[in-house]
Amino acid sequence: MSRNTKQVPKEEIIKQLETCDIVRQLLAKKPKERKALVDTYGCQQNEADSEQICGMLSQMGYGFTDNVEEADLVLLNTCAIREHAEQRVFGNVGALVHSKRRNKDKIICVCGCMPQQEYVTEKIKRSYPHVDLVFGTHKLWQFPSLLLSVLQNKKRVFAIEDEGGRVAEGLPVLRKFSYKASVPIVNGCNNFCTYCIVPYVRGRERSREIEDIVREVKDLVNGGCREITLLGQNVNSYGKDLEKAKDFSDLLIALAQLDGDFLIRFMTSHPKDASDKLFAVMEQYPNKIAPQLHLPVQSGSTRVLTAMNRGYTREKYLELIRQVRARIPDITLTSDIIVGFPGETQEEFEETLSLIELVEFEALFTFVFSARKGTPAEHFEDPMPIVQKKENFQRLLDVQNEISERKHAEYIGKTLRCLVDQIDEKGNVIARTPGGRRVHLEKDCGKLGEFVDVSITNASKWSLFGVIQK
Ligand code: 5AD
Ligand code: SF4
Repeated sequence: MSRNTKQVPKEEIIKQLETCDIVRQLLAKKPKERKALVDTYGCQQNEADSEQICGMLSQMGYGFTDNVEEADLVLLNTCAIREHAEQRVFGNVGALVHSKRRNKDKIICVCGCMPQQEYVTEKIKRSYPHVDLVFGTHKLWQFPSLLLSVLQNKKRVFAIEDEGGRVAEGLPVLRKFSYKASVPIVNGCNNFCTYCIVPYVRGRERSREIEDIVREVKDLVNGGCREITLLGQNVNSYGKDLEKAKDFSDLLIALAQLDGDFLIRFMTSHPKDASDKLFAVMEQYPNKIAPQLHLPVQSGSTRVLTAMNRGYTREKYLELIRQVRARIPDITLTSDIIVGFPGETQEEFEETLSLIELVEFEALFTFVFSARKGTPAEHFEDPMPIVQKKENFQRLLDVQNEISERKHAEYIGKTLRCLVDQIDEKGNVIARTPGGRRVHLEKDCGKLGEFVDVSITNASKWSLFGVIQK
């Protein structure tokens, strides 16, 4: 067993599975099949949580719909990372009141990161009486018994206690795709970056046992899955809380040694913990580990990085980029940037611009700082006017667009093994390069979920264009 991490005992998981059966029997008495709508906000971890929620709902006998009116149960799995995300959820929860008026038996659930904050739960209690069930990230595995309690007692249920976090194995998962999957490996975060709400709403780092992850990935690969994305707020700290001395590199090696035709991606890496050891493993298994690294830098100024409590300097970050490129020259690098962190000066912003010019990421995820309740940065002095922050944000986008266009142009003429990833209703086809960039292929070429050799014929700042080699 683990040193610090506690697993939910098997008996408790079995109890939840038995509860699924009880709900199923209860619903079987209804005249028609019950349907659920699951609406997911935020990051890939939330998407993965929703696949578990859907797995439990399916086990309880629910079918699924995209139509709110048709749904007997509506569940919003929420994100708290920025204020804008929260406002959207409140707007959508508010709008559900009309649909509930038309169907009093409709069950409305709010879960995920938002209710893990006290003020959110209080607001839902007070101002959104049509919400029946509220539960936080720590209670996800107890969803069946929470829902049963709502169904039987017809009373509102709020379950938001932070239990310190446990790992729950053996819950059903309903995956959206057969050819690609996300596999959480470590949940929570210990880093407490001063702007970030995640450690407060997802708790401390909890790693899954290596055997459980290997088994899951093996089953996925045997079932035909071609792309597996390992998830964690900081994948590089995988294993620190486990008894056996296993780290992220050990996990990657164990997975890369599995038989089969599949590619492993992972996110997110923290520059403070990413190391040449990791890059060496990536170099060693080029056919199994994607040449892709999402390495959020947040700022190009060491002073701002210190105020953010990031644990590295501008120079250390640039050194990491040099190391990874020395081992894997064609690696696809992406990053996150926060513009307008409290106290960031114009000169410090210019340092961020100069860093992105130096590194030349293929793409950036850019955010204007958003103050989160309960984080240290909420109270930092923030003299820069928002108009200036927005102007800087636009400049950052303009500079990055030019870089992306240039980097994408370098692909033209290359042939890459890509996974056909999406075919929309109009027949448009999108594949992913080994580094994860989007490639538009000719219409109606089929082959969803297959690896194909693609010649890149054209590029824009957003994506690539190519044809399948016959
Ligand atoms: N304001 C703006 N951006 C934020 N991020 C996290 N917290 C905040 C915040 N309070 C960004 C960081 C992180 C990404 C997932 O979201 O860049 O890497
Ligand atoms: Fe938030 Fe920092 Fe943890 Fe990432 S590493 S989840 S930014 S606290």
